[in-house]
Amino acid sequence: TKRKLWGGRFTGSTDPLMHEFNQSLKYDKRMYAADVKGSIAFSKALLKAGILNEQEQKEIERGLKIVESEWAENKFVIQPDDEDIHTANERRLSEIIGKEIGGKLHTGRSRNDQVATDMRIWLMEESNQVESYLKDLLNVMVSRAEKEVDAIMPGYTHLQRAQPVRWSHLLLSHSQSFLGDLDRLRQLQPRISVLPLGSAALAGNPYSLDRELLRQELGFKSIGENSMHAVADRDFIVEWLQWASLLQIHMSRMAEDLIIYSSAEFGFVQLSDAYSTGSSIMPQKKNPDSLELLRGKAGRTFGQMAGFMMSLKGVPSTYNKDLQEDKEPLFDAVDTISAALRIAEGVIATLSINPEKMFAACTMDMLATDIADYLVRKGVPFRETHHISGQSVALAEKNKIQISDLTLDQWKELSPHFTEDVKDVFNFENSVEKRNAIGGPAREMIKRQVDIARQRIGQ
Ligand code: ARG
Repeated sequence: TKRKLWGGRFTGSTDPLMHEFNQSLKYDKRMYAADVKGSIAFSKALLKAGILNEQEQKEIERGLKIVESEWAENKFVIQPDDEDIHTANERRLSEIIGKEIGGKLHTGRSRNDQVATDMRIWLMEESNQVESYLKDLLNVMVSRAEKEVDAIMPGYTHLQRAQPVRWSHLLLSHSQSFLGDLDRLRQLQPRISVLPLGSAALAGNPYSLDRELLRQELGFKSIGENSMHAVADRDFIVEWLQWASLLQIHMSRMAEDLIIYSSAEFGFVQLSDAYSTGSSIMPQKKNPDSLELLRGKAGRTFGQMAGFMMSLKGVPSTYNKDLQEDKEPLFDAVDTISAALRIAEGVIATLSINPEKMFAACTMDMLATDIADYLVRKGVPFRETHHISGQSVALAEKNKIQISDLTLDQWKELSPHFTEDVKDVFNFENSVEKRNAIGGPAREMIKRQVDIARQRIGQ
């Protein structure tokens, strides 16, 4: 007999398009394991409350495990009236173990607390996976930074050559953003890990179900304290989408750097073939598509976040079907992030750098600040030294030479404080090594960054 799970009070049938519109199984079936896990725990609470006896609980658990293995082995046969993963699993459970026992499982439970619980279980597990991808990316970045500490390149502001830095310092600057993402992801976990189960539809359950038992069975950190809030709350999804959007912004900014640096005009880095594609018309082309996709997908994740926040706005208290719209944005964001992190890891692990080109791109005028610093050490106030150094740049420009080629006489004309040792300023390695306060690009500070990053990743 075909009947909808909630069909008791209905006499008319659902419009076919409405049926399709309402059905979430096509995407929420990926939570089948979370749904089974939640139901097995729930059956134990029903046993403790005396709704099920031992034998019934065992039978339900056995049946649910069969349901789970059918999904896992791609053998689960979906019926037209399976509206979502919850109704599908319950329908199938009753087919396997019989309605007499199967029909008792949903006592004191609603799909409202069930779906909120499933989403949280699912997201906690996915977050762990995402965290490990993020750690893999970070480890690759940090190892490269450690290994390639010798490479000196121009640091840019406004995309104009600014001051020399180490390639490692640039790489670690992006790692710092990802370390922030790692911290934030870890901080989200306790807010995802709040148990809704036991809240039923909105008003709680009348069977004194032991929610502490449910919490322990499902490994949640805490229990939702308000049944109306527990079935309504999707803040954990909003936060996750916001988290993912920010991570994607970081990825797109790093991608943008590497895209620019991989152009022939820069030639600082070269992507491996594994993460590049060619052109259908221009045989010479090697395009950084991987990085462009990392950059482009940031827009997609941000869209999922903004879209779901709009769906949530203005939804009345407790459960309303609008909340079903939480799934596709979250699933898409999790998939996008998971792929992006692994691609980014691959790109960073396999790209090659060209330290000669990096070094060759450093021009002597990038040491103009060092000239100012030189005069500061001779007692001249910085504002004045800045001006004098600027004049040296202008003088060199006028004579079409580099500032390092100015004669001592020319220097002395600019300021009597210049002496023979001014030529020692024009050394990029020295310039970088002088910047050895915490946070600077000097070798020992790169090492410090690497060590601290490893500690944070390891936590
Ligand atoms: N498929 C629904 C969702 O994803 C499950 C909850 C349905 N609850 C309800 N009362 N119709 O939100």
